[in-house]
Amino acid sequence: MAKCVFITRRLPEGLIEPLREWAEVKMWPEERTPVPSDVLVEAAKEADAMLTLITDRIDEAVLSSGERLRLIANMAVGYNNIDVALAKTKGVLITHTPDVLTETTADLAFALILAAARRLPAASKALYEGRWGPWSPFDYVGRDVYGSTLGIWGMGRIGKAVASRARGFAMNILYHNRRRLDPQEEARYGATYVDFKTLFSTSDVVLVLVPYDASLHHAVDRNVLQSMKKDSILVVASRGGLVDEKALYDVLTSGHLYAAGLDVFEQEPLPLDHPLLQLEQVVLTPHIGSATIQTRMAMGARAVHNIIQFLKGTSPQDLIPELRLP
Ligand code: DGY
Repeated sequence: MAKCVFITRRLPEGLIEPLREWAEVKMWPEERTPVPSDVLVEAAKEADAMLTLITDRIDEAVLSSGERLRLIANMAVGYNNIDVALAKTKGVLITHTPDVLTETTADLAFALILAAARRLPAASKALYEGRWGPWSPFDYVGRDVYGSTLGIWGMGRIGKAVASRARGFAMNILYHNRRRLDPQEEARYGATYVDFKTLFSTSDVVLVLVPYDASLHHAVDRNVLQSMKKDSILVVASRGGLVDEKALYDVLTSGHLYAAGLDVFEQEPLPLDHPLLQLEQVVLTPHIGSATIQTRMAMGARAVHNIIQFLKGTSPQDLIPELRLP
């Protein structure tokens, strides 16, 4: 029987064309609307592999429906949209798309640091609204990034790529990670390992880059936010749910934190009545860390490549760490 691949969003034909040699390809026809969950469950029934996005919840309903399903190829580096434990018990492989988005996401994280520290949106808005008066010594002043202390929580590929950029800004780099880097790597990135508490309490800018899992829900809570240095900046570029956004709003409005930059949120798209939208000292972007045309095409190609390897009967190159042999 011919193999069947289901793609959960309309992707450019040029990207998926290589798959057609190996399988029948079915695809949700919309580019901007996620596949409804009932359609996804139905599609899983006849799929051997699925190419999924972070908007697709691959849960009990999908995994139980997918009797033939053996591979989920997520077009993202993160995969908290997938019930990994259940997939494992059902013998379903999961791949992701590491590496190809590292530099692009690091660029965005650094852009958020700069934009938050220099309050670019507020200054730009003032100009658009005709509030730009005569040059004045203390109008639109921000805080220096150059020479300040950056604390990176999550020193994986993207964290290291941000550290490389930060070195060009003469920043003092601290990091906290589950696994400490070896001394050569610490030297290469000029990064000093500290515990979680020290990272938050001594950095001028804290950058959150860890992946989300339920054990880290609101790990950056009110206490952690209040423990941050006065006038420091919080930037989040991995996943929503790690930071208590209500507490962040309160700590920003109390004047304790200077600014924040967020690309990811607990609820996406961000509801228009979200309190953070009222604050001029925050920079908010709509989950665009990897959003360059080159990188999104590379992510798609990598997901397709993983599926082709699977269809050929070889082990896909980008199995998620939980599924890799030690
Ligand atoms: C990822 O890859 O996990 C991003 O969040 C989407 O690019």
